[in-house]
Amino acid sequence: MKSKINQSNIPQHVAIIMDGNGRWAKNQGQARINGHRMGAESVRKIVEESSKLGIKYLTLYAFSSENWNRPQEEVNAIMALFVEFVKLEMNNLIKNNVRLMLIGNISQLPAETLNSFNQCIDETSSCTGLNLVLAVSYSSRWEIVEAAKQIATDVRNNIIKENEITEKLFSSYLTTKNIPDPDLLIRTGGEYRISNFLMWQSAYTELYFTDVYWPDFREENLHKAILDFQSRERRFGMTGEQILDKNKH
Ligand code: FPP
Repeated sequence: MKSKINQSNIPQHVAIIMDGNGRWAKNQGQARINGHRMGAESVRKIVEESSKLGIKYLTLYAFSSENWNRPQEEVNAIMALFVEFVKLEMNNLIKNNVRLMLIGNISQLPAETLNSFNQCIDETSSCTGLNLVLAVSYSSRWEIVEAAKQIATDVRNNIIKENEITEKLFSSYLTTKNIPDPDLLIRTGGEYRISNFLMWQSAYTELYFTDVYWPDFREENLHKAILDFQSRERRFGMTGEQILDKNKH
């Protein structure tokens, strides 16, 4: 399937809602945390393959603002898994020229998790290949409200004027400033929801849903999603004829 991928139309930014870890574990008669553990294995594989394919940004929804409401034991286990992931993967990330970034309300993270993420961000800061963006303690509504508050403060302090507020300016107040909007958003695990993820940024993103649980999601599943993406006509509100004409020039 990989050979069918058109190298000149690789999505620049792929975002993934990694769902189904819990159900995967339940099906195997295992504890939920084992689903997350196997999910980390999928993260490793998909990061490496995205890098090989020449994708520039891979954003993974690793922990939502709402996930703090899960049983404390599960939250602790996921936070510990992040630390373990950084410890095991740091050298691989550097070797593959992958730069780590975080988006979300990271001040809520336990110190140990935040420290290890920050160390990895530092150590990979000069990597120029794939940008791996982990969304942790992230939700779109939180991000949009924070941006609105900051814009209000800047207007009050005469840093910007009300009539300067445009979509472009608003985007620059989001945690994703300097990151292009996603071209392709994949959700695993069989649900058809956006779940408070990159709602502003995905206005024109192609959506792809699969029943595959995240711990089973492998390179060939990513290839399938990219091939599906490549079969779509992205019109951004224009007509099909206009797009054809634009591509001719
Ligand atoms: C959703 O599945 C998954 C999460 C809330 C956690 C995602 C975490 C990982 C994949 C662990 C590793 C991540 C990194 C970046 C190392 P769910 O628990 O909601 O599944 P369910 O809907 O089947 O219950």
